[in-house]
Amino acid sequence: MSSHLLSVDSLSRDHVDHLLRVAARMEPIASRRQVTRVLEGAVLGNLFFEASTRTRVSFNAAFCRLGGSVCDTTGFTFSSMAKGESLYDTSRVMSGYCDAIVMRHPDQGSVAEFAAATHVPVINGGDGPGEHPSQALLDLYTIDKEFARLGKKLAGAHILLTGDLKYGRTVHSLIKLLSLFEPMRITLVSPPGLEMPGQVIDRAVSRGHRVEQRDSLAGDFSDLDVVYTTRIQKERFTEEMSESFAGVSQDFSVGRDFLDTRCNDTTIVMHPLPRDSRPGANDLNVDLNGDPRLAIFRQTDNGIPMRMAIFATLLQVEELIEKDLRPVRWFVPERTGVDDPHS
Ligand code: NCD
Repeated sequence: MSSHLLSVDSLSRDHVDHLLRVAARMEPIASRRQVTRVLEGAVLGNLFFEASTRTRVSFNAAFCRLGGSVCDTTGFTFSSMAKGESLYDTSRVMSGYCDAIVMRHPDQGSVAEFAAATHVPVINGGDGPGEHPSQALLDLYTIDKEFARLGKKLAGAHILLTGDLKYGRTVHSLIKLLSLFEPMRITLVSPPGLEMPGQVIDRAVSRGHRVEQRDSLAGDFSDLDVVYTTRIQKERFTEEMSESFAGVSQDFSVGRDFLDTRCNDTTIVMHPLPRDSRPGANDLNVDLNGDPRLAIFRQTDNGIPMRMAIFATLLQVEELIEKDLRPVRWFVPERTGVDDPHS
């Protein structure tokens, strides 16, 4: 693995397997049973120039749980970029202050440009419609854990990616990551005009995966293992596009009816979140809340151990973790969410 995490392109199958193993070792810390201080003294710079809740906060929490501290900045308005500062200058300045940097920016390629100006590890927290490699890694970690629980294997699995596959950066990184594994069946369902970029599909096909593209959710999905739904990325649309895609999402909304009538008892439902829960939004339906097949909050929880694994690997402390563990001393509730099952 290079010193930055900018794209899934830099990851080999061995790197990915290593990250999955390290993330599993982070679980006792992520689930607040043990404490480590391996990154004591280290400082993370979080630079978020686009809206974010879970990516920013979970990178922040992951770094803190390893014992480090975080400097957080959000939006262009309060940064010097509003005064015309270049990515190069910002990168050099931040590198003098921080030991690792996570950056989210609306322009594709911007995080790579920022990383080219520094030797401090940089993680791409989402570059416009480009990539979101840490999300794909936590998504894969989620699939791996869910499959282990259900006694399933990734090889030969049927995975459905649906929604805005053109501008949704999480699905670009995810399909590239899945491509590194044994052949599986990948179905891509999106409104016409919002299809997955061709070169990403070609790569999966060249690695032996069976990829099928459709423009509707009609049909039988009784052998489906995972449905990964995404939000229509309206903020990337021009005004003209907003008009032509108005109302389109209702045909791509996944809910209890789709799962009960066309999938099976072990189909898991994932979403990178946020889902748009406003009336008429037609994103992933809230009628699945409390259904054990809905894996979205297990998925968000998995962001912590995977992001800890990314930091531990980039900062080369993963071998020190076990030597540094202590028990947690504060109150931790038995269940995190009110709809979580009793363990
Ligand atoms: C996504 C993102 O920002 O790319 N969210 C996330 O990071 N978990 C997906 C989205 O905004 O739809």
